[in-house]
Amino acid sequence: MDVEIRPLESKEHWPQVQNLLATVPFSTTLPIVVSRPNTLENSYSSFHTKALNFVALFKNRVVGFVHSRVEKRMVWEGNSLHPKLMSYGGDLRITRDFQNRGIAKRLLDQVGSALDESGVYYGFGIIVSNNEPAFKLTLPMDGVFRPVLKYSVKTSLLLRRPTFPKNPSYTRFRPSVVALEQLCESLRTRFLGLAMVSEDLTNFISDHPNIRFYQSTSEPGKIAFALWEQSAFRRVGFAWMPIQFKIIRQAWNTCRSFSKAHEFPPANAPIKTAEVVFVNMSNAVSDFEEIISYTAWKMGCLGVTAIADGLGGNAPSLNLTGLGYKTNLTLMSYGRHKREPYLCPKGISTYIDLGFV
Ligand SMILES: CC(C)(COP(=O)(O)OP(=O)(O)OC[C@H]1O[C@@H](n2cnc3c(N)ncnc32)[C@H](O)[C@@H]1OP(=O)(O)O)[C@@H](O)C(=O)NCCC(=O)NCCS
Repeated sequence: MDVEIRPLESKEHWPQVQNLLATVPFSTTLPIVVSRPNTLENSYSSFHTKALNFVALFKNRVVGFVHSRVEKRMVWEGNSLHPKLMSYGGDLRITRDFQNRGIAKRLLDQVGSALDESGVYYGFGIIVSNNEPAFKLTLPMDGVFRPVLKYSVKTSLLLRRPTFPKNPSYTRFRPSVVALEQLCESLRTRFLGLAMVSEDLTNFISDHPNIRFYQSTSEPGKIAFALWEQSAFRRVGFAWMPIQFKIIRQAWNTCRSFSKAHEFPPANAPIKTAEVVFVNMSNAVSDFEEIISYTAWKMGCLGVTAIADGLGGNAPSLNLTGLGYKTNLTLMSYGRHKREPYLCPKGISTYIDLGFV
């Protein structure tokens, strides 16, 4: 069968890519799929210098997709962190009927050649820790892949209307240029931190006005974290509902008249969640969870998501309590043409953000 690999140029193919992402799960544990917006331009982070999107086409039908982009990230070289152009690869999907025919390998080879032309030889990607087919794929590539770290992400389900603390330790604020500069500086102290300037962040915030920034009452004026209800950017949902979630959904919707939780949608409908992003604090204090849960509930969300642990160094651990689901992920780093990939030295924390992967 003749499958052609091509850069995604034509707007005509984006609806098919959207459909592919919305139907093929990225994990084998839970059939969770991602819905991206109607335009490619609004679907990925704008912090890149170059985007590389490729499709696999069979008779004008999209049977595979991969997204990749080149960003300036902090890497350890010599004995300190330096900004370096790196590629981030994600959203790799092959339709079920075209898997195991070498299509993903061909897509990744194309990305690799395009990166060579741009002089970019290092990159990273994230794999759900038990996704064996995806790990296998890293073996025959023209590059050296190394796992950097394992971390976990938890979505805590908002089973009932949460209460808001009387004297909250974090308050919403509009960050000043100084606060944005401080955040950019702090990202530069973390492995894979985005090397950007406050202007990039200002533009990003104006493109995504529903990102809410919070300051701690003990450090006013400094960004502690942000909460982002991402439905304009990316939505998650079940491709089909596993039995345990069918039971939860039924009980959840039955109890709604007194729990005041939002309706749990069926399979194939997006589940609204809010993500904790731009975390820029040491470990959160006790009412952090109440504040984000209440705010996410007010925004109509069913859950709130944060990176729970594993980012090393002095990265905060935001272990959300309550019923929810945890995903274990592995951060993979790679160097092309037998170059040793960049790794994270001990004591330095890694920056991975829920907003940009
Ligand atoms: C993971 C995934 C992207 C792999 O895609 P794929 O196109 O099936 O991968 P490939 O065909 O390139 O490689 C898979 C197998 O096919 C084999 N293969 C390669 N070329 C082949 C060919 N021409 N004919 C037959 N088999 C071939 C590979 O050797 C490999 O076999 P192995 O697993 O025994 O080593 C795909 O399964 C998928 O979309 N999964 C769901 C989403 C997902 O997990 N995405 C990754 C997120 S990080």
